[in-house]
Amino acid sequence: MYHINPAIKNLYRIFDQNERRDYLRLDLNENPGGLPEEFVKEVLSGVTPQLVAQYPETLHFTEVLAKHLDTDISRLCLVNGSSEGIRYIIQAFTSENGRIVGVVPSYFMFQVYSEMYGRNFVKVPYNDDLTMDVNNIINSLTDDTQLLILLNPNNPMGNVYTVDEFEKILNAAKQKQITVLIDEAYHYFYPETFMKYALTQEHIFVTRTFSKLFSMAGCRLGYVAGWPEGIKMVQKLCTPHNTNAFAMLFAEKILDTPGVLDGLINTFNEGRSYLINELDKLGYPHKGEAGNFLFIKPKTDAQRIVERMKQEKKILIKTYPNVGEFGDCLRVTIGEKRFMEKFISALVELDK
Ligand SMILES: Cc1ncc(COP(=O)(O)O)c(C=O)c1O
Repeated sequence: MYHINPAIKNLYRIFDQNERRDYLRLDLNENPGGLPEEFVKEVLSGVTPQLVAQYPETLHFTEVLAKHLDTDISRLCLVNGSSEGIRYIIQAFTSENGRIVGVVPSYFMFQVYSEMYGRNFVKVPYNDDLTMDVNNIINSLTDDTQLLILLNPNNPMGNVYTVDEFEKILNAAKQKQITVLIDEAYHYFYPETFMKYALTQEHIFVTRTFSKLFSMAGCRLGYVAGWPEGIKMVQKLCTPHNTNAFAMLFAEKILDTPGVLDGLINTFNEGRSYLINELDKLGYPHKGEAGNFLFIKPKTDAQRIVERMKQEKKILIKTYPNVGEFGDCLRVTIGEKRFMEKFISALVELDK
């Protein structure tokens, strides 16, 4: 008899992300401007027939990355985007019906993977004022919880944890022998990191990506950092040659070329200051301490604004329903000032 896995059959996935070429894309937290064109050309000039022909060599880039993080390669696993690493951690460190605790709203793939593998994802909601009470996270850690997922900072809320809060949560998880996954996809926009815990303790992972500040979402590259035995488990799940040579070439050049990361950060900061300033002037409540995105409470219907931005302005943004006192609100990716100007002028026109 043919078999179809019911968990996959009933799984809801969105596959509408391929018709975005002619739009100003402020919906998925990519860098809408990308890397400087000259830099991209220069990196591509280093592409040889061998690089294209051979399976990707991960050792060299893993060493470069280990140096960047001041660690060694046994603590790192390269993945095809950090979402792949998250999936493997869920697969390896939880069982069927296993309890996974995570905050909501958050990056949706945590719930998708949990459902895909028949896990039980337990949601810890934000307070009405969009703050997170860490005691609510701690109180949801039961003896049978297998994995706790934290984000630093969280997408879409843009909130962060203090070191004290984080250590309090970590100690509670440790006492109950719960593996902790810390998603630091937005690390470079917010420099405080919990990486040192993943690099010195067991059962703590940090996932990071090259899709955000590094502006390489099209290349697909991320990594998992953790203790060597945990990393081995993640490696066992990887498809063969899962990280591609172009991605590693770009990432290495970004890390090696002085000024590239600083340039990206400066451009971002200029866009961010402009956006926040304009929103304040226009009287829009907004939220997002960290990350390359902002939550905005619109004056009129959020869904209608998103649709009209798309149809009339060719700008893609996202809406989140029922977010505490913000209600239905908008999430906008922050990019270069010129893109933020376009967004603000569209918002002023459409949100009335
Ligand atoms: C919080 C968070 N984690 C992980 C990812 C996945 O990033 P990637 O798979 O491109 O590395 C995203 C993407 O938007 C994200 O927002």
